Amino acid sequence: MDDLRQTYIDLIANAPDEATLEDLRLRAVGKKGEISLKMRELGKMTAEERQVAGPALNALKDEINSALAAKKSALENAALDERLRSEWLDVTLPSRPRRAGTIHPISQVTEEVSAIFADMGFAVAEGPQIESDWYNFDALNIPGHHPARAEMDTFYTHRAEGDERPPHVLRTHTSPVQIRSMQDQGAPIRIIAPGRVYRADYDMTHTPMFHQIEGLAIDKNISMANLKWVLEEFVKAFFEVDDVELRFRASHFPFTEPSAEVDIRCSWEGGTLKVGEGDDWLEILGSGMVHPHVLRSGNVDPDVWQGFAFGMGIDRIAMLKYGIPDLRAFFDSDLRWLRHYGFAALDVPTLRGGLSR
Ligand code: PHE
Repeated sequence: MDDLRQTYIDLIANAPDEATLEDLRLRAVGKKGEISLKMRELGKMTAEERQVAGPALNALKDEINSALAAKKSALENAALDERLRSEWLDVTLPSRPRRAGTIHPISQVTEEVSAIFADMGFAVAEGPQIESDWYNFDALNIPGHHPARAEMDTFYTHRAEGDERPPHVLRTHTSPVQIRSMQDQGAPIRIIAPGRVYRADYDMTHTPMFHQIEGLAIDKNISMANLKWVLEEFVKAFFEVDDVELRFRASHFPFTEPSAEVDIRCSWEGGTLKVGEGDDWLEILGSGMVHPHVLRSGNVDPDVWQGFAFGMGIDRIAMLKYGIPDLRAFFDSDLRWLRHYGFAALDVPTLRGGLSR
């Protein structure tokens, strides 16, 4: 009995886990366990033998049972200690976002463009996105019957029944800011006006809301030559190349005369855009000398002042510079897209720091 006792006490003391302990319990004091079998043999003993063996076996059974219970709770405590150690958490630490947000490419490019023009003395101007049709059209020399009105796929606001006033429009371009800025500041003036514009159009390269940046420079002796220099400086800085070739193609806008659409020399070799080399041309903006009617709408005297204006698609140049194929994805708010194409929040574009760092 002493051997039995010693064997089980040792085995229990060394049991590594609760499963082993349960095994030992069955082997020792289970229904068919060694101690239980010994107890069954008591029946075959003489009364004297039984008087000695009975209490001894019972004492052994109790001892084994309490050894099992003690070991079980020791194992449970050890498991709990281990969990407390591994799941330890300092709730007093300051919170920390798992991922920082990113700057949308439109915001990034707007900042880049603004930094470049600010360096050339242009201030940023703004105007409302819901415009009167006078600012959006008439003031810009686009009268009621002009085909440009139809071409712009304009969104009109609703007027109450019987209200004869012309409806407001979601501005179809940033050009109305030319008028508002001239009215507010007079001449001379040098502004750029980035912002949202709206046209009913939807495909790979068109969304009903998109972004333009307007430029306006009015002074006493501003010419197309100044326009050309400013745009060349802009394109070099924006696409981060030393040399560019611009092509001015005669065009027509009601609000400029003469008018030109501007292309940049580029190559699409291997499917990637390279600005400044190659045999392709890429249209990036519309421009021209501000029409005298437009100056008059802005209360600026066309006999004294003249200047240039241009309008450029921000989304378009963002797609080109950062190789983003589908415009519609810009406005889907898809987190994976934003993380892929977004910019680190603290990388504010500056000319000194390198724009697209
Ligand atoms: N407003 C024109 C457009 O949306 C662009 C433009 C602006 C052209 C200024 C000439 C001068 O297409």
